[in-house]
Amino acid sequence: MSEDLEKTNTAYQTIEDIPGLGPATVNKLKEIGFKTIESLSTATVAELVSAGIGEQVAEKVIEAARKSRAITFVRGDELVELRRNIRKLTTGCSSLDTLLQGGIETQSLTEFYGEFGSGKSQLCHQLCVTVQLGEAQGGLNGNVLYIDTEATFRPERVQQMAPRFGIKPKEVLKGIVYAEAYTSNHQTVLLENADEVIKENNIKLIIIDSVMSHFRSEYIGREMLANRQQQLNKHLHKLMRLSRAFNTAAVITNQVMASPDAFFSKAVSPVGGHILGHMSHNRIFLRKGRNNMRIAKLTASPSLPEGEIPMRITERGIESDEDE
Ligand code: GTP
Ligand code: MG
Repeated sequence: MSEDLEKTNTAYQTIEDIPGLGPATVNKLKEIGFKTIESLSTATVAELVSAGIGEQVAEKVIEAARKSRAITFVRGDELVELRRNIRKLTTGCSSLDTLLQGGIETQSLTEFYGEFGSGKSQLCHQLCVTVQLGEAQGGLNGNVLYIDTEATFRPERVQQMAPRFGIKPKEVLKGIVYAEAYTSNHQTVLLENADEVIKENNIKLIIIDSVMSHFRSEYIGREMLANRQQQLNKHLHKLMRLSRAFNTAAVITNQVMASPDAFFSKAVSPVGGHILGHMSHNRIFLRKGRNNMRIAKLTASPSLPEGEIPMRITERGIESDEDE
């Protein structure tokens, strides 16, 4: 490791730019999914060491990446300034935007949970359109990375929703980078290797629909639970870090189970346990109403008041009365 690295204070564009890094180390970093300065700045020393990179080198490259992105201690007033980078993505449904006070925040994790047919995947489809809108229209002027674990993504449905937002059906699919995940391990690996894809495609929204289904079906029984939660924790942390590093919104959907403490009612709670609960900043419960009505209820949020709103699934997408 050369001295330049310790003194450095420049903004690097690629990991190859970090002085003192040999090609072997660069390759190792890439192999384990750190292909960009942005993602490297959120790495931990242990992650790099476990890939065979020396501890001192690991500390220095992470520090160089962090300095390059000016990630260090900040004062409260500076934090306010940093939070100014946070954007809100419109859901395309006025009542839901009101519930979320503007929409889905970047740099945090938003979870939609509910039983089958409650509209989780439909909402994901609609977000594939709205993220492409300009900021003046509530979009993020970017594209979406869609990780599909249940093979329920339908490009035709996105095309059907697009015209309401003024986007041509022919154009809208170009803004979607799609991957089907076949196992929980595949799902994890896809995300671990996503940083370059995110940067090169101007990804402003990452969707995982649904986050738990593979984990739930593969890890069965109590003795596998600890291991499952460990893998899940790693996966969610990666999602969180990518969303911070690239200022993207991150949306996950989740299934529900009957609440153990609600014997006499029909209460349900999201699966995934405390790990998922702690990682999701905003949790929204979707349930079916009459006909095509749905009710969205904000059940947990660090800053928004709880509340619930009605919305509707129509051929135009997810909308509320105000949207007509
Ligand atoms: P699971 O993935 O099974 O847990 O459910 P989900 O919450 O993802 O449900 P999804 O978002 O797939 O919602 C399916 C619902 O959307 C169904 O009840 C459909 O009736 C409704 N839906 C889908 N497409 C259309 C459409 O073009 N028009 C209308 N009116 N409804 C639609
Ligand atoms: Mg679904």
